[in-house]
Amino acid sequence: MTPILRVKNLSKYYGTEPNSVTAVQKVSLEIAKAEVVLIMGPSGSGKTTLLSMLGALLRPSEGEIFLKGRSITELSETELSTLRLHELGFIFQNFHLLSALTALDNVALVAKMAGLSHSEARTKAEFMLSELGLAGRLRFLPEKLSGGEKQRVAIARAMINNPSLILADEPTANLDSKTGYGVMQLLSRMAKEEERSVLIVSHDSRIRDISDRVLWLEDGRLK
Ligand SMILES: Nc1ncnc2c1ncn2[C@@H]1O[C@H](COP(=O)(O)OP(=O)(O)OP(=O)(O)O)[C@@H](O)[C@H]1O
Ligand SMILES: [Mg+2]
Repeated sequence: MTPILRVKNLSKYYGTEPNSVTAVQKVSLEIAKAEVVLIMGPSGSGKTTLLSMLGALLRPSEGEIFLKGRSITELSETELSTLRLHELGFIFQNFHLLSALTALDNVALVAKMAGLSHSEARTKAEFMLSELGLAGRLRFLPEKLSGGEKQRVAIARAMINNPSLILADEPTANLDSKTGYGVMQLLSRMAKEEERSVLIVSHDSRIRDISDRVLWLEDGRLK
């Protein structure tokens, strides 16, 4: 079966010689459908850089990325933004919710951008948030939500357009250990049920338990 994600010899250099930094060096990996993969590594090892390239947020210096068998390295900015909206879901350390919008609208907005009508988007967002245990928080602004609740809103938002691949950068960094683990268990369970692939980068070794596979990144290389 074609992997959801295939990466070949991916590298990223920042800056120009003599001050150039090699953040990611010849990384190759594959992620299968419904697989949950954790990439661990120390601070500065290139985790965010790698994830940003895989999420089409940052252009690689070298190498290729195939999403569902299609190379994304040559796509235009417009094609990349369509791809991000429909095929990729992002979960960030700081949640990145829009502070002026309710939990419901934070999630529904992304579905509307992908083409759903206002009421379809809200119905779907309400369903997703309820699945994540937030039925009683739909109309709360992010400032009124706990960290774990905000992260669950971010998960609903990442999943609402049925992406093939969900990318999470240090998703538990701002949560206490019990909450962080619970939220990641929820993400892993939903991903399995809906056959979505998940790539998490983190220093948090507790996430090992919910991952199918753990990779180690050091100085920009997979060990
Ligand atoms: N925009 C940039 N310009 C120049 N160098 C950068 C830039 N972003 C990152 N780097 C460098 O690239 C290397 C990898 O950074 P990256 O943020 O990917 O690491 P990380 O593994 O995510 O670290 P952390 O665990 O602290 O988040 C670091 O040495 C960093 O200083
Ligand atoms: Mg990082």
